[in-house]
Parts: sequence; C-alpha cells; structure tokens
Amino acid sequence: MIREVIVTTVDASGKAHIAPFGLIAAGEEWIIAPFRPSATLANLQEVPYAVANYTDDVRIFAGCLTGRREWPLAPIGTFLVPRLADALAHAELAVERIEEDARRPRFFCRVLRQEQHTPFQGLNRAKAAVLELAVLVSRLDFLPRDKIEREIEYLKIAIDKTAGPEEKEAWGWLVEKVEAHLGDREPAHARGEGS
Ligand SMILES: Cc1cc2nc3c(=O)[nH]c(=O)nc-3n(C[C@H](O)[C@H](O)[C@H](O)COP(=O)(O)O)c2cc1C
Repeated sequence: MIREVIVTTVDASGKAHIAPFGLIAAGEEWIIAPFRPSATLANLQEVPYAVANYTDDVRIFAGCLTGRREWPLAPIGTFLVPRLADALAHAELAVERIEEDARRPRFFCRVLRQEQHTPFQGLNRAKAAVLELAVLVSRLDFLPRDKIEREIEYLKIAIDKTAGPEEKEAWGWLVEKVEAHLGDREPAHARGEGS
C-alpha cells in the first residue's frame, strides 16, 4: 500500500522544502524512499522529522514537478516542520531508522500525531488522472515516446469528463512539460533542421 502525499521537511537552518512522495506502508510505520539526489533526503539526514500532507489539490503535485513549489505553509505548534496550509489532514512523522542504499535509502517513520483540517470531499477521476500524469512526468527520462503518448490519450478522457478548473490547470502544466521534453527529444530532421 502506497499513499501519495506531499512531504514537508526542513534543513538545519529551518528552511522548508516540499515534494510529492509515495509513502510505503510497513506495519505501523511509513517509509519515505527518496532516490538520490534529493533535497528531502538531505533534509531528513539533517533533521529527522517530516510532515505527510494529505491533500486532494493536485495542483501541488503538478506544481512541484513543474517548478511551482511556492505553496502556503503553516506552522504546527512546537513541531519543527510546517504543514501545507491547505492540507485536508496531516501526519507528523519521526524517522526511527534508516536503511542505507546507494540508489534509494529508506527512512522508516513513526506517526507521532495526526490532525484533520477539512473534510474529504470524495474521489474524482480527473484528480487521479493528474496524479498519474505527475508520476509519469517524474519518470520522463525512462519512458518511450509511444507509451507517454498512449497514457496521455487515455488519462485525458477523465480530464475531459470530470475536471474542474484546478485539475485543468494542473493537467496543463504537466502536458506543457511533456511537450517540451518530447520536443527536445525529436531528432533534428523532424524539426526541419539540418540537411
Ligand atoms: C505521486 C508522486 C510520488 C512520488 N514518489 C517518489 C518517491 O517515492 N521517491 C522519490 O524519490 N521520488 C518520488 N517522486 C518524485 C519526486 O517528487 C521528485 O523527484 C522530487 O523532486 C523529489 O526530489 P526532492 O526531494 O529533491 O524534491 C514522486 C512524484 C510523484 C508525483
């Protein structure tokens, strides 16, 4: 079981960082598993606490992958790490142990406290589609062009049928990034350059 959340962490100076992560369930613990290099990883090594922000605002997932990381944060009492101001709920996490790995270390976290802020409003297919495209965008370098194009064509059905303005905006940011990536990858002759 993996829960897709926005993780907040801080560095030793207290500067906050936000990033989407899939938290892996391991009994009572949640595992944060960042691929190297990662700001989240560096922060967890400096300050072994994090917040798992449960949010259905998919603009934050899409935004983090497209250079839009300025989402409002809110302090949580005496806890060192802030939460997303608009999180539906959050969990305060303490790193209990680290399984070192050259590629992808695993930070096993204990939940210290959870709090709900806003009621969950139900599932939405367009939000799920944006999340899927966000995951795809985070792996663009490893995926063949035809797989990327087929996935987008399928996911777009849910966007066309069920998206609100926020989901459309988030979808647009991600599609822009995919197009820039595919454009860069086109051979020179396909762009009308060269001989
Ligand atoms: C839904 C979702 C889940 C993700 N889960 C992970 C993860 O488990 N590990 C990881 O390294 N990156 C994951 N990513 C990609 C990171 O969010 C992205 O690479 C991010 O910039 C992490 O690097 P940072 O800590 O330097 O910000 C995920 C992205 C999305 C959209």
